[in-house]
Amino acid sequence: MPVFKKIRTANVIIEAIASNPEITYEQFLDLLKQPAATSSSLSSLSNIEISEKDILNNIDYIYQELETWVDEKEAFGVLSCPLLTSLQKLVGKKRKRTKYLHGDTDTVKTKRNVNPNLAVLQHQNPTCVTPFINNLTKGMFANKFITVRHDNDIDLFEDASIKIEAPIIKKPVTHHVIWSGERIAKSYGISYYNSAVVDGEEITVGDIVYVRNDDSDEPWFAKVMYMFEDSSKKKMFHSRFFNHGKAIFLEEFAGDRELFLLDNCSDNELETVMGKAEVKLLDIDEDETFDFEDEHFYFYRFWFDEKYATFEDARLHEDPNTVYNYCTKYERCHSCENFNAADQKKLPKWIYQDSQDIPIGFTIKGIDYHLNDFVYIIPDEESENTSYEIGQIVEILNKEERTVVDYFEKKNKEKKKVANPAVCVRSLGRYDDLIKSKSSNKSLETATYRDIIHDPHDVKDCRRLFFKNETRVIRNVSDKLEGVCWVEHKDRISNLNVFKDETDTFYMDCKTTKKQPNLSNLETMNADDVQFCILCKEKRQNHQKEMSEFIEYVNIQQKKLRAMDIFSGCGGLTVGMDQTGIVETKWAIEFASSAALTFEKNNPHAIAYNQCANLLLERAIAEHSRKEKLKPLQDFLGQKVPSMPAPGDVDFIYCGPPCQGFSGVNRYQKADDIKNTLVATALSYVDFYRPEFFLLENVRGMLCFRLGGKQDGRKILGGIKMGVIKFIIRSLTAMGYQTRFSIQQAGHHGVPQSRRRLFIWGAKRGSYLPDFPQPSTCFSKQGSINVLLPDGTSFTYNRRTNGYAPYPAVSVREAINDLPEFEFVNPHQVYPAEKEDKELQRPFRQIEVPERGWVGDMETEYGSEPLSEYQRQSRKDCTRVYNHICRAFNKLTVERIVRITMFPGADHSSLPEKLKPWCLSDPNSAASRHNGWKGLFGRLDFEGHFLTALTDINPMGKTGVSYVKMLFVACFIIRL
Ligand SMILES: C[S@@+](CC[C@H](N)C(=O)[O-])C[C@H]1O[C@@H](n2cnc3c(N)ncnc32)[C@H](O)[C@@H]1O
Ligand SMILES: [Zn+2]
Ligand SMILES: [Zn+2]
Repeated sequence: MPVFKKIRTANVIIEAIASNPEITYEQFLDLLKQPAATSSSLSSLSNIEISEKDILNNIDYIYQELETWVDEKEAFGVLSCPLLTSLQKLVGKKRKRTKYLHGDTDTVKTKRNVNPNLAVLQHQNPTCVTPFINNLTKGMFANKFITVRHDNDIDLFEDASIKIEAPIIKKPVTHHVIWSGERIAKSYGISYYNSAVVDGEEITVGDIVYVRNDDSDEPWFAKVMYMFEDSSKKKMFHSRFFNHGKAIFLEEFAGDRELFLLDNCSDNELETVMGKAEVKLLDIDEDETFDFEDEHFYFYRFWFDEKYATFEDARLHEDPNTVYNYCTKYERCHSCENFNAADQKKLPKWIYQDSQDIPIGFTIKGIDYHLNDFVYIIPDEESENTSYEIGQIVEILNKEERTVVDYFEKKNKEKKKVANPAVCVRSLGRYDDLIKSKSSNKSLETATYRDIIHDPHDVKDCRRLFFKNETRVIRNVSDKLEGVCWVEHKDRISNLNVFKDETDTFYMDCKTTKKQPNLSNLETMNADDVQFCILCKEKRQNHQKEMSEFIEYVNIQQKKLRAMDIFSGCGGLTVGMDQTGIVETKWAIEFASSAALTFEKNNPHAIAYNQCANLLLERAIAEHSRKEKLKPLQDFLGQKVPSMPAPGDVDFIYCGPPCQGFSGVNRYQKADDIKNTLVATALSYVDFYRPEFFLLENVRGMLCFRLGGKQDGRKILGGIKMGVIKFIIRSLTAMGYQTRFSIQQAGHHGVPQSRRRLFIWGAKRGSYLPDFPQPSTCFSKQGSINVLLPDGTSFTYNRRTNGYAPYPAVSVREAINDLPEFEFVNPHQVYPAEKEDKELQRPFRQIEVPERGWVGDMETEYGSEPLSEYQRQSRKDCTRVYNHICRAFNKLTVERIVRITMFPGADHSSLPEKLKPWCLSDPNSAASRHNGWKGLFGRLDFEGHFLTALTDINPMGKTGVSYVKMLFVACFIIRL
């Protein structure tokens, strides 16, 4: 099968480079010709017939696989090895000879008789974009785009060069300032006014003015919030500032005339006012214009959060209906209010109920704590990867009687007394801590390849707790408490699985009086003996009711968001989206046939378009906007392509455009990689359909990709720093979308795998802009999820202290130990079987590994009941295991896999002499410069996590480690 050939070709290259990074192209071709028996190191190549042509045909895929392989290691540097350098040159020559097919609607022909999966390797159609998006690219993509015109498109004026010219107001001094109209109030010795005349021009509260900037020729834009005169007799105003896009991170991609409202304000002298500015708040459906008659015209529509690079509808941040708790009647400033509220939130505050004068609880950082609440506590001993401690508040200490609190003390300078609550909590233990498996007395150094580590098959349940008999007092509640959770007695839960599927839930039915709890000293505890907080219970019940009514409404009224997944692959992102219960993916676009077929099989109610996203965009616009009659088009499998949905039909577009070209570790980044332009295609879909919501997922490398740079050998020089993300955010905001982005780590969200990805949300003004979830599981701190902005500042959405989280990390064991075990039979090709080997009773099913194809069971029984929450959730209602297989290997590889010591972290260095791939351990080889390629042929830690998975399992790759259990010497499907 050509698909296998493609995969194999990639593996052969990876294997060759992993074995010997210094290998040249010529040596590699020689190796390809060598038969297995005579090749000591790369024998796995010998049973695959691969020619030079296969490699060239598959080069994009090979890079993609290499990318994934090195992604988590970052420092590998293999991408600059001689073999790949030569390949790059050859591919360059080949590309020059090949012309891209032009995907004009009238002349659309699908290349038949071509392996449909190969379509993914060559992006055959030029990138189609709408004129609006084309304009926003400012010509920074090296590739030529086809602009697809709507009916009424006019030519836009912005050209391809980067130019931001704002007219500069020149006015060195202001001469004359007087108040206009009566004083509106006097308070604490300060007089307030509603307007002033500055050099003859009337300025009123609410106006936007140019403010002199002593550090630059360009003035600030500021909104006049209030005007006043204090004892210094200076005529003052409180100004809330705007910033131009070029001064925030949009920089080079900023629109000429767009300003962004900030939460940044200060008192200024009216003398600094240079004049009134003409700044318009765009209406919600109003597009920005590019054609200005008035050179002083500016507009705004977004508030910009300087800390998180978030853009939200400006109207939310200057809402006239805001209730001011911290600003006085005459000094109302939204930004001051926010600032004070945030400041105050950090301080504990007592909560009083109606007429009572004794507090019923306290608030810190926006979270309420009451008697009997269950709380997350930051452990005393700082250690990585631990979950919060959990306790129940059994007493609130230092309570204060209610007094009349004056929030507006700013002027009378009274020092407000700060509340100082403390709590006494009763501790709860985690059930799983009692069933920790016995640790082996072996170490990596002492283990032999026969060591078997016992897996007791205990049922773990990260949601299960028990009461301890200990109480303790927590005084510094601001630092130690980090939220509340819901702990329920098992007897009070009607459906335990449904309960456990919620966030921040735990259950219990036992207690212990012992200092050293273990399974045998747990005693049953009655539901009646567990106190709970009535306030929170009511709140929870109301919330649940609202949620179920909402879901019911969404289902009955068919109000799910009708979604389109562009570049859907086989539908990974779709599964997640549809699982929310409020999204229904109705259309998917994917041009690799096998992926599109898989998508179709899993989503029978959706339309999977097995065609190029560019062609389909062109057709959608032709049909729905230009109202043309379309010629029939075939997909890559020869089927007729159905019509595309019309604008108005699509509420949500989400996509994971191909990402290989962006990865920062790709030493072969091409300035003109056509795959990188698919981002512009995706944004053009947004422009055409204007859905309510948008989500884009990609590798972190997209954040730092330089756009518009020049190719210099293997590097891209110059160009715009963070150009792609700036272009995306500029495009989304230009189309009126609020937006925020962050890097998320899959390991933080209940997955036993390290996978960091960039997510960008878009939501129309007036819609809710989704936030990012907080981690639910602990995960190794290695690898930052910080976003670094061009000005050197960085941010993360993770607000949990030090990586603590409600639940422990999910381990490899918890992911897979319910699957039936099997073990590779040692083919003894190099070392004959010893007597003791023959006598050794292997505890698992033995499977001989064929040289080709796969090994395992296509369909089989589970090995046990679910043994962890992860397993329960991934099984859902599934009763049988499918595709419990791994790829085949040649005998030498199998013998190596079998002989690597059964110990976490063991790798090729533990192999006996004759099985060692020389190039991985020879002190004279390149391997020595790479720390002996530590970890290759490695065994995963059963208590650890997986790294990003490859399409195929390869023992040479660090991610394709020969597998788990430390004793299964098998590689199998990855259940993630
Ligand atoms: C990163 S993957 C998307 C993975 C997917 N979101 C998931 O969760 O499974 C990108 C996909 O885009 C597809 N693709 C690349 N270029 C395309 C094009 N021009 N039209 C349609 N699909 C394309 C590739 O075949 C690949 O499956
Ligand atoms: Zn203010
Ligand atoms: Zn409560």
